[in-house]
Amino acid sequence: MEQQIDRRDFLRLAGYGGVVFASGLVTGGCASPSGGARAGDAAAEFHFVQLSDLHWGFEGPPNPDARGTLPKAIAAVNGLAQAPDFVVFTGDLTHTTDDPKERRVRMAQVRDQIGKLNVKTVHLMPGEHDAALDRGEAFQEVFGKTHYTFDHKGVHFIVLDNVSDPGAVIGDEQLGWLASDLSDRPRNAPIVVLTHRPLFDLYPQWDWATRDASRAIALLEPFEHVTVFYGHIHQEHHQMTGRIAHHAAKSLIFPLPPPGSQPKRTPIAWDAAAPYRGLGWRDIEADAARAYYELQERPVQGA
Ligand SMILES: [Fe+2]
Repeated sequence: MEQQIDRRDFLRLAGYGGVVFASGLVTGGCASPSGGARAGDAAAEFHFVQLSDLHWGFEGPPNPDARGTLPKAIAAVNGLAQAPDFVVFTGDLTHTTDDPKERRVRMAQVRDQIGKLNVKTVHLMPGEHDAALDRGEAFQEVFGKTHYTFDHKGVHFIVLDNVSDPGAVIGDEQLGWLASDLSDRPRNAPIVVLTHRPLFDLYPQWDWATRDASRAIALLEPFEHVTVFYGHIHQEHHQMTGRIAHHAAKSLIFPLPPPGSQPKRTPIAWDAAAPYRGLGWRDIEADAARAYYELQERPVQGA
């Protein structure tokens, strides 16, 4: 017996400040997403952290602590009562620079910072600031692949690169790779997509879109449990396209205004009375057996 619950009915605020999301169908006790995991199965429960848009190398207003914000976030992650199974960085690790040498210096510095995380595994992907000027060459030299998959406790994670092509596309080759990765997967497999730009037209006028996202979504749409975590827009944002849930994370450098809320996409000013306001990172409790993702938004706090 499978109980189908509209996802919108399922979105609720948890009592302790987290937000619970279930993507696609929520299964009852007699059926569960594939991967051998069943509801209540501790082996299928884990948590991971998402950090995004560090823009290492950015200087000047609005963030007077541009070199201190990332270390503060890393210290906060290291201070979690239970270490995450892994940490993901959803792009824009560095701020763009025309100088290829400086780009590599910034990436090496970020790599050193990331090395201070007390976690076994870190998954990285570029943003357009890292990769658009050299089609991901420096990123691949320093960090490795820009698109890949990994599996964790029954969840299939897909890292998509929608930034190395300066035309803001995923591109034919990667879409072919995605199609073959998905081709013989069961329709009820829990899938998480990690990427930088949104996979829907959030606000294309501000480059808040991926031009061929609809082709990726068409490949993902047949699956019952797909959730996308992304960055790029420097603010928390949640949206459904069909039964796919999309969640944008905050930035670690400066917040940006809500989509289309003002004529220009200019950073929100620093507020000395509330330093680090609008910056943050995310802790995600995952229950693969039920395709639940409980999102805890964590602030960056001063020293
Ligand atoms: Fe970006």
